[in-house]
Amino acid sequence: MTLRVMVAYATKYGSTAEIAELVAATLRDEGIEAAAAPASRVADVRPYDAVILGSALYMGRWRRDARHFARRHRRALRERAVWVFSSGPLDPSASERDIEPVPSARRAMCRIHAREHVTFGGRLEAGAKGRMAKMILEEDRGGDFRDFDAITKWATATAGEIIALRAEL
Ligand SMILES: Cc1cc2nc3c(=O)[nH]c(=O)nc-3n(C[C@H](O)[C@H](O)[C@H](O)COP(=O)(O)O)c2cc1C
Repeated sequence: MTLRVMVAYATKYGSTAEIAELVAATLRDEGIEAAAAPASRVADVRPYDAVILGSALYMGRWRRDARHFARRHRRALRERAVWVFSSGPLDPSASERDIEPVPSARRAMCRIHAREHVTFGGRLEAGAKGRMAKMILEEDRGGDFRDFDAITKWATATAGEIIALRAEL
């Protein structure tokens, strides 16, 4: 039986989508049938054995699409193995230590009985629209702080946990 996993994400400027795509590709390398899609476009999670939900962080919160996803699919998610990730810090902190989930992520995790949370570094690059984004860039606080090795390592470990679940499914 092939295990099916959905990696649902909420993004504004696209960098979280790229993290989700890398997670899905890593799961596929481990023999899992995995796809990544915007959380707002996932109509039903019941076809999947496990779900990974990721959101970019803005002003200390998960994006609305991720929060809504957790609320909308809470019953089905509680019956599945669920992992979550946040992407945000525009500095190397996420590669150096564990960063706790923000309150809205924690609430979503409780709602869907998520197993584990991880924070990955984020990216903000020149050209990003929005007053706050421009301010951050003008202060020279932008850049790409995503640690692709750490993301791949986490996804490989999560694939191992998903495969180990097969016996329970
Ligand atoms: C207006 C604004 C607010 C942000 N607030 C946070 C925050 O509270 N915590 C954090 O870790 N990162 C914060 N960031 C950084 C973003 O989370 C980071 O750029 C992320 O990678 C963006 O993801 P996306 O490209 O998927 O939208 C903020 C960025 C912007 C532009």
